[in-house]
Amino acid sequence: MKTETTIAGLRAALKAARKAGKSVAFVPTMGNLHEGHITLVKKAKQRADIVVVSIFVNPTQFGVNEDFDKYPRTLAADSALLAEAHCDLVFAPSAQEMYPDGRSQNTSVSVSGITEVLCGSSRPGHFTGVATVVSKLFNIVQPDMALFGEKDYQQLAVIRRFAKELCFPIEIVGVATVRAEDGLALSSRNGFLSADERKLAPQIFQTLNNLRGAIESGQRDYAMLAAAGNGHLEKCGFTPDYLEIRRQDLDPAGADDKALVILVAAKLGATRLIDNLAFELP
Ligand code: PAJ
Repeated sequence: MKTETTIAGLRAALKAARKAGKSVAFVPTMGNLHEGHITLVKKAKQRADIVVVSIFVNPTQFGVNEDFDKYPRTLAADSALLAEAHCDLVFAPSAQEMYPDGRSQNTSVSVSGITEVLCGSSRPGHFTGVATVVSKLFNIVQPDMALFGEKDYQQLAVIRRFAKELCFPIEIVGVATVRAEDGLALSSRNGFLSADERKLAPQIFQTLNNLRGAIESGQRDYAMLAAAGNGHLEKCGFTPDYLEIRRQDLDPAGADDKALVILVAAKLGATRLIDNLAFELP
C-alpha cells in the first residue's frame, strides 16, 4: 500500500494502473476509520482492481461552531487498518494541497432542493462543502466507481444528484450501515460519547425500529409518529435536531408512498449523532 500526499503524486501513482486497463474504486473518508469505513474498502476491493482511499478532514463542510478542530486525526492507525483491508493507495493531502487559496475558493458545487432540508437546514453550507470536496476528489482520482455509506443517507442522495447532473462518469455505490451489536451506527463521533451516553445511544436505532413497526402496522399520521419519536428521544436525554419520515427520494411522504426512510439527528451531550432506516411497504 502506497500513501500519496500530493495531487501530482496520486495521479502519477494511478497512471500505470490506468494504462494497464485496471479498474479503480474510490472510498472518500475523513479518517479515524472504523469497521463501517473498512466495509466500504472491502466492498470496493471486491468490485475493482485498485482501491484508493482518501483521508482528508475537509474544513469547508464544518460550520464555525462545529467540531473541525477536535475531529480525530489518526493517520497511523488508519493506515494499518487500510493495509490489512488490502487498500492499494491512500491519498492523504494537506488542507493547503486541497485548497491552495484557502477555504474561500471561488468555485463550489451547490445542490439545491435536497440540501435545504434535514441536516442541510441545521448545518448551512455543509453539503456545499461536501459536494465541492467530493467533486475535487473525483477529478483528482477519476475512479470508475465510488462507494459511500447509507448511514449518511442525505449525503449519498446529494452525491448521486450532482454526479448525475454534472455527468461524472462514475458509478455511485451505496453500502448498508454497519452497526455495533446494540444497533448503534458506527461513527467516528461515537468516540466523543461518555460511558453513560454510549449506553443511551442505541435508543436512536431503537426509536427508528419502533416507528417502522408502527408504520408497518398501518399507522400513517407521519407528523404524529415523528413527534412521538422525538418525545421518546427527549425523555431518554437526547436533544433531537430532527426526526422525519420521508420518501426515499427525500420528498415529504404521503399516506400512499411505499418507499420510505425515517431520518434522525439528535445530540447526546455535545455529540451530534445521525441515523436512518429505509424500508418498503408492501
Ligand atoms: P466520513 O464520515 O469519514 O465517512 C466516510 C464514508 O464512510 C461515508 O461514505 C460514510 O457514509 C461511510 N460510513 C461512515 N460510517 C459508516 C457506517 N457505520 N456504515 C457504513 N458506512 C459508513 O462522510 C464523510 O466522511 C465525508 O463527508 C466525505 C464524504 C469524505 C467528504 O468529506
